[in-house]
Amino acid sequence: MTQTKDPVPDEAASSGDPIASEPAFHQTETRMAIMGHPLHAMTVAFPVALTFCAFGADLFYWWSGEERWAWAALWASGTAFLFGLLAGITGTAELLMVPGIRIRAASWTHFVIAVLLLSLLGLNWGRRLQGYETAVLPWGLLISGFAVLVVIATGWHGGKLVFDYRLGTSKGN
Ligand code: HEM
Repeated sequence: MTQTKDPVPDEAASSGDPIASEPAFHQTETRMAIMGHPLHAMTVAFPVALTFCAFGADLFYWWSGEERWAWAALWASGTAFLFGLLAGITGTAELLMVPGIRIRAASWTHFVIAVLLLSLLGLNWGRRLQGYETAVLPWGLLISGFAVLVVIATGWHGGKLVFDYRLGTSKGN
């Protein structure tokens, strides 16, 4: 079932919601885009996939004890963090530049969950730089597992912004 959260202008004006009545509320077109294709959507796939890869490599290390899985987890956690920063930069630029995105509480909720994720990804990688094999059990594995839960929440919530509120979907200027 399709659910529309964004009231049309007349409904917004009559609802009495001061935020929904703002003219900027409906200016939600992406500005961080290449030929109308949003950069944030292009960059988020990498940290999502690499967060899962780090957890998978940790599980294989736990199961096999083979050093190569700890090495793989070092790389997966590091690239998850660096691509996560890139996604954070494109998302934050979009948030600050687009009035209809900036004015919605849901956008800031996504920002807070994403910053928690980036903190976890940085912690996960930083610990491994001081000894990639000893860092895995138990804390590396636990942090990777928690990061998977938080990346699911971040991606799911980001999807809500696009599919429920239609943020950043139309071609920009
Ligand atoms: C840290 C600051 C971040 C901000 C301010 C932010 C902001 C946004 C905004 C405004 C959207 C709506 C679409 C758009 O305007 O481009 C969005 C969508 C999304 N975000 Fe973020 N984001 C951030 C970080 C992240 C991170 C780190 C991830 C995942 C690792 C992520 C995952 C997503 C996903 C999956 C979508 C839906 C994309 C689509 O389906 O097209 N975001 N985000």
